[in-house]
Amino acid sequence: MRAQTKQLSDVIPLPASVRPVPAASFTIVSGTAVSAPPSATAVAAHLAAHLAAKWDLPVGEGGAIRLVEDSGLPAEAYRLEITSESVTLTGGTAQGLFWGVQTLLQLGPELPGGVIEDAPRYAYRGAMLDLARHFFTADEVKAHIDLLVQFKINHLHLHLTDDQGWRLEIPGWPLLTEVSGGEGTGVDGTGPGFLTLAEYADVVAYAAERFVTIVPEIDMPGHVNAVQLAYPELTADGQPVSQRTDAEVGYSSLVAGKEETYAFVEDVIKAVCDVTPGPYLHIGGDECHSTPPEDYRTFLARVLPLPGKYGKRAIGWHEIAAADLPETAVVQYWRIEGDAPDVARAAAAGRQVIMAPADRTYLDMKYDPDTRLGLDWAGHVSVRRSYDWDPADRLPGVGEQALLGVEAPLWSETLRSVADLQYLTFPRLPAIAEVAWSPRAARNWESFRTRLAAFGPRWEATGVTFHRSPEIDW
Ligand code: ACM
Repeated sequence: MRAQTKQLSDVIPLPASVRPVPAASFTIVSGTAVSAPPSATAVAAHLAAHLAAKWDLPVGEGGAIRLVEDSGLPAEAYRLEITSESVTLTGGTAQGLFWGVQTLLQLGPELPGGVIEDAPRYAYRGAMLDLARHFFTADEVKAHIDLLVQFKINHLHLHLTDDQGWRLEIPGWPLLTEVSGGEGTGVDGTGPGFLTLAEYADVVAYAAERFVTIVPEIDMPGHVNAVQLAYPELTADGQPVSQRTDAEVGYSSLVAGKEETYAFVEDVIKAVCDVTPGPYLHIGGDECHSTPPEDYRTFLARVLPLPGKYGKRAIGWHEIAAADLPETAVVQYWRIEGDAPDVARAAAAGRQVIMAPADRTYLDMKYDPDTRLGLDWAGHVSVRRSYDWDPADRLPGVGEQALLGVEAPLWSETLRSVADLQYLTFPRLPAIAEVAWSPRAARNWESFRTRLAAFGPRWEATGVTFHRSPEIDW
């Protein structure tokens, strides 16, 4: 680690505007009080709790650290003013204050003087975790959320179902989890488990307290071997299928011509919408290689309106752009190269797009040929590759106006532990978080790699596993 004086701009993601006042600084010590309006006492408590290991910060009136709400600011925006006497953090809402607290925690306890004015580039800054190929418990997902919010990630997409497992209890369909969530499920049979509805609700609430929206995904019409293993009546011929624990894709499909399919799908979508306060339901739609194209369109024509019927916006992987999309539908792009005329057409028709190109944002790609975990079908994704690109340049016909945001998916075929999950997540997640939050013109690889180096000792001190990429001077 290189010794250096902390700068006001030593924050990831880089704030929109930083004006240092080098002569000033404020040092947090035990007894430094934090005050907040009633709407943000939980945010103030979060700040105090994160410093509690070393400092005792009373939350009360007239604190030297003052949290203020200003409805004139956008909801996620904040302003942080640090003088020698005080710290004033102003947020558009409690959410903006929460992001300001993350900035403060990265800078503290010796806070350089000056003013930061900050707001995100994109409304949707996501990470995805695949619970189907390897299950992570509710407590493990919650711990992961705590690491994500440090980088101002505000959506966690949970890939809850796939060929190898079904990970959410659905009322009326008990075999989904009894058969496909139990022992022996997951890739190589090593990732069993499922979330009960109560556990899912607990994760959703925990995320919401940290201003993170859970985006549940039920993948269909492909990636459904776990469904058909539990309920053979949902196959084309009603015959049982074998359990699959390999990592193949594209071989299973719900049957577009069977009414039972739609009874099942609507039950599941309604159940998931009922327990999901966030605005989105992801219906998958990817890699349906064994679904005839006509059947794929027939299926989506019936299914894409269902999230809307239960009050949600449908998200689907970009293959859904081949179908007629409801006005509120969102297309998630994941390809590695080339044009995507369907996606461009959807964008021209006003549909929003989430950028998640596999060769930049897939956290399950190996960093380099020697990476012990991960896959390489989209190439190797070094930290620099995950940083040095721009979402608005990626696809002809899909510019800034069409973008809802950016997501970093983590598929779990090769994961066996939380340490594995963290190793592939860090340090690429901070890179993608900066792509999603910071102004394009302000982003710079040299600056990023220098700021990133400071996280090595912090991750070590807090027991977070990360890849010591040779691109960074740790
Ligand atoms: C995907 O990677 N199949 C969306």
